[in-house]
Amino acid sequence: MAEALRQARKGFYSAHPNPRVGCVIVRDDSMLGAGWHEFTGGPHAEVNAIAAAGDSAGADFYVTLEPCSHHGRTPPCVDAVIAAEPARVIVAMQDPNPEISGRGLERLRDSGIEVVVGVLESEARDLNPGFVKRMERRLPFVSIKMALSLDGRSALANGVSQWITGEPARRDVQFLRASCSAILSSARTVLADDPSLNLRLSKQDLGQARELRHPVRVLVDSKLRLSGKEKIFSTEGEIWVYTCSADAASKASLIERGAQVIEIADDGAGRVSLPAMLQDMAGRGINEVHTECGAGLAGALIEQQLADQMMLYQAPHLLGDQARGGFELGELTAMEQRTTCRICDIRQVGKDLRLTLNLNQD
Ligand SMILES: NC(=O)c1ccc[n+]([C@@H]2O[C@H](COP(=O)([O-])OP(=O)(O)OC[C@H]3O[C@@H](n4cnc5c(N)ncnc54)[C@H](OP(=O)(O)O)[C@@H]3O)[C@@H](O)[C@H]2O)c1
Repeated sequence: MAEALRQARKGFYSAHPNPRVGCVIVRDDSMLGAGWHEFTGGPHAEVNAIAAAGDSAGADFYVTLEPCSHHGRTPPCVDAVIAAEPARVIVAMQDPNPEISGRGLERLRDSGIEVVVGVLESEARDLNPGFVKRMERRLPFVSIKMALSLDGRSALANGVSQWITGEPARRDVQFLRASCSAILSSARTVLADDPSLNLRLSKQDLGQARELRHPVRVLVDSKLRLSGKEKIFSTEGEIWVYTCSADAASKASLIERGAQVIEIADDGAGRVSLPAMLQDMAGRGINEVHTECGAGLAGALIEQQLADQMMLYQAPHLLGDQARGGFELGELTAMEQRTTCRICDIRQVGKDLRLTLNLNQD
């Protein structure tokens, strides 16, 4: 199963909106074939593994996700698996979609195949945090990237934040961009920094054979303050602007620049409802959201318990107490109100530190 997970990881940058899945076929302690799911619409991992293995009758199939039992863009994998006549199918995790979970396993058992479920399950879930959350909760997995000084500051008081971290950290962020379905930011940050928020890696950098997939860039712009003249609109890739403004002229100028403008419910205070926006994004197949914004939006996502993870890049500099904080969270009056995180990983990137933190919200 560890090898099947390694196979699945090959689809890390390309499988969206499908899950990353790997499959290994073994008989008499030797690997007959392996496969992974590369891109949506392409063959699934099991089908690729069967093709690589040739005759796999009587073999053990190790699959990181329950084989699908429904007709999507490709026929159900479970039919291909049954036709290959394995002795056993070992599955890391059931399909997270509650409406179809277990059906593929049932079909296998009904065909007389022994089925084992739950081997390296947590590793398999970790491989697809966005797909799993979208299927289970109809929301994407939200990761907040933030560059901070050693004293926790995200920008100078005058709004300047380029650059807090060094070149290696900024290149590292490119890999986070490449792996997500969507990069989320705000009109505020676009107006302040004029970023492109695009992918500047090559397919060689990512070890990909196919052309790069550019994640969609999503901007919160409640009042449609963007004009369409900002740099982001002249770089390659899709842009979705979420707004609660019905201003037809502003909308038209963004659409003319190639953006999709999506009107969404407001939060009662004239701002885009963030839960409604994220639900809508999930409905459009967005699995993992990588957020690059300032203290306002980052704080709101945390306060509303919509964020799952933080990627903090901390530079060994002090910006002082006049600079802006990292997260606008309102005043806390008791320690019990603080947001608690779990540190998952710490590493040095160039001269900066990178902390991966899980937000403890359960
Ligand atoms: N250090 C870093 O990693 C980093 C990264 C990016 C940007 N920055 C810096 O951050 C600064 C911008 O920060 P910022 O706080 O002004 O902007 P921001 O956090 O990027 O975005 C603020 C916007 O998010 C939306 N928002 C905030 N709370 C909301 C809520 N509860 N519900 C719905 N929408 C909400 C609002 O959009 P609407 O006004 O449209 O409603 C608000 O204007 C800039 O100086 C930039 O240089 C730093």
